[in-house]
Amino acid sequence: MLNNVENILYRRPELYDLFYPEPNDETPSMLRRAFAKHLPSPPKSILDIGCGTGRDLASLARDGAKCVGIDALAEMVSFASSRHAHVSFLNGDMRSIRLGQTFDAVLCMGSALMYALTNTDLRATFQTFASHSHSGSLLFLDVNNAAACLPGGMFRRELRNEFNAGGFRAVATMLFDFDYRRQVMIRRRTWKLEDEETIEDFCEYRLLFPAELEAFLDDAGFGVVGMYDNQQLMDTPLNGLRLYVTAMFRG
Ligand SMILES: C[S@@+](CC[C@H](N)C(=O)[O-])C[C@H]1O[C@@H](n2cnc3c(N)ncnc32)[C@H](O)[C@@H]1O
Repeated sequence: MLNNVENILYRRPELYDLFYPEPNDETPSMLRRAFAKHLPSPPKSILDIGCGTGRDLASLARDGAKCVGIDALAEMVSFASSRHAHVSFLNGDMRSIRLGQTFDAVLCMGSALMYALTNTDLRATFQTFASHSHSGSLLFLDVNNAAACLPGGMFRRELRNEFNAGGFRAVATMLFDFDYRRQVMIRRRTWKLEDEETIEDFCEYRLLFPAELEAFLDDAGFGVVGMYDNQQLMDTPLNGLRLYVTAMFRG
């Protein structure tokens, strides 16, 4: 159960990967690039926090790492477990879960960190990252880039997406608004279905700036080793829509 979220794709996880297709394994490929760049050898253990359908871990586990995924939604956990028997999936909250073990790599992908809406939630979540890391563990974060909302950035307030897969055909129109005081982006989405029925959903996301993330990471014992706005992990001025952060645990 999640507060501040109503999302058809969370109620029907089988549609999630179809709505966000990755035909060429884009995210796991980026993660392998980051491991090669920042770790002395490929990770033997990987924890994915807010793992959703478990797609990223399912791919990474094929390289031989022991993989564990955590998600707050029981629907996601049971869907992921049914699809990917070679990975362990557990129901838990990123602000509080403690597995009592550490991992060579800790991931929080696909904006999952942005569900920590307040500074208190963020600090708690960074403590969870630290509790599952040992000296030299690599943390990888993937969030919207708040800097892209500044003048000169690439952010658009309205997006339209046509969707036709898994027996579900709809046009999704997404409107984005901001609560500037809380630094929260609000997405209101309207799905117009084939039979003209409309379904509304919404979500609140905490926006994070690069230097702000670096401060939270530092407080939790992580040193940033790279910040990118592209999946090739090339250095840029960081005004792109995504922010990929790699950080090393000091221990
Ligand atoms: C946008 S999805 C991303 C899923 C996956 N990481 C990916 O990239 O495909 C965000 C996920 O974060 C999970 N989530 C949100 N708040 C959470 C929390 N407090 N603890 C654990 N998982 C959470 C949601 O249930 C959802 O599966």
